[in-house]
Amino acid sequence: MKTRLTLVVVSLVLSVLIGLSLGRQHVGGADAARKAGVRIGLSLDTLKEARWQADRDMFVRRAGELGATVQVLAANGDDTVQISDVEKLITSGVNVLVIVPHDGKAMAKAVELAHEAGIPVIAYDRIIRDSDLDLYVSFDNLRVGELQARFLVDHLPTPGRGRIVRIYGAKTDNNAGLFKAGQDTVLDPLVKSGAITVLHEDWAEDWKPENAKRIVNAAITAKGSHIDAVLASNDGTAGGAVQALLEEKLAGKVLVTGQDADLVALQRIATGTQAMTIYKPLHTLAQGAAEIAVKMATGKPVIARQVVNNGAIDVPSVLFDVVTVTKDNIESTVVKDNLYRREDIFK
Ligand code: BGC
Repeated sequence: MKTRLTLVVVSLVLSVLIGLSLGRQHVGGADAARKAGVRIGLSLDTLKEARWQADRDMFVRRAGELGATVQVLAANGDDTVQISDVEKLITSGVNVLVIVPHDGKAMAKAVELAHEAGIPVIAYDRIIRDSDLDLYVSFDNLRVGELQARFLVDHLPTPGRGRIVRIYGAKTDNNAGLFKAGQDTVLDPLVKSGAITVLHEDWAEDWKPENAKRIVNAAITAKGSHIDAVLASNDGTAGGAVQALLEEKLAGKVLVTGQDADLVALQRIATGTQAMTIYKPLHTLAQGAAEIAVKMATGKPVIARQVVNNGAIDVPSVLFDVVTVTKDNIESTVVKDNLYRREDIFK
């Protein structure tokens, strides 16, 4: 159904930037979108984590500036609810659907339903697998995993050597597999050579901190407290890991990684119980996605530089860059970008 979307896949970074910034001026402008009465349906996996609330707010704000209205529904991690949310949005007459899938495979059904109604679908942050998806907007998720593992390896008490615990994300989230794959590219050779020992590893169901805590508890019970680092795949799971370490009086002694630049994680970085996070500038993603959604709804061309295979097709994709944040560059990254105030982080 690619006729719904005039899509240009080009090979220059510049082209994407030009595409997105041009979009800002002539997405049709607020007037065109208002005249066309653009309505966007935003279906979220959950709003129970800080980052998704921020994504929603920035997306809705930018769409509003462009004259579009957004109907938001969140499924609380339930696939049946998310499918019924999508059905509601389709019935209510949205022109384009933006979906953060709870389960990247289960949501293929949502793409099918939307296409039957002639509505294009953008997968936001997490890809929808095995479907005729129109566009994927996210960050470079392999790079996230690579940066987490690279940081961990370089900052072990003996750099390049140590005993670690690995906490992956939700098995249902395609991103969790990408973060792990990125980490593997760095760790596999070191594990093979015996320099790094993985004491324990597991997937934290639904990315829940309490499941991450259980993974660290299990590691300590099975292998003892001589742990050099916990490779946690995001800030939520890092929080669970730190909780388990606190109970064992190990917090601050064991390096813990993260991702998302959540305020609580930055506070942990400031006090030393977490070593790093990955900052994914959500405003770039949310605003970019809102601009693209309005373009698609008004039949304007969308420029995508990359493609990502979702098991069925090469999905035209726009992937943004990410940054490692430690105590040393909090000021020049998240504070500079006005994400949080310095005093809220270092309170
Ligand atoms: C996102 C992460 C987030 C995680 C849990 C992933 O798909 O990329 O930023 O921490 O889901 O919500």
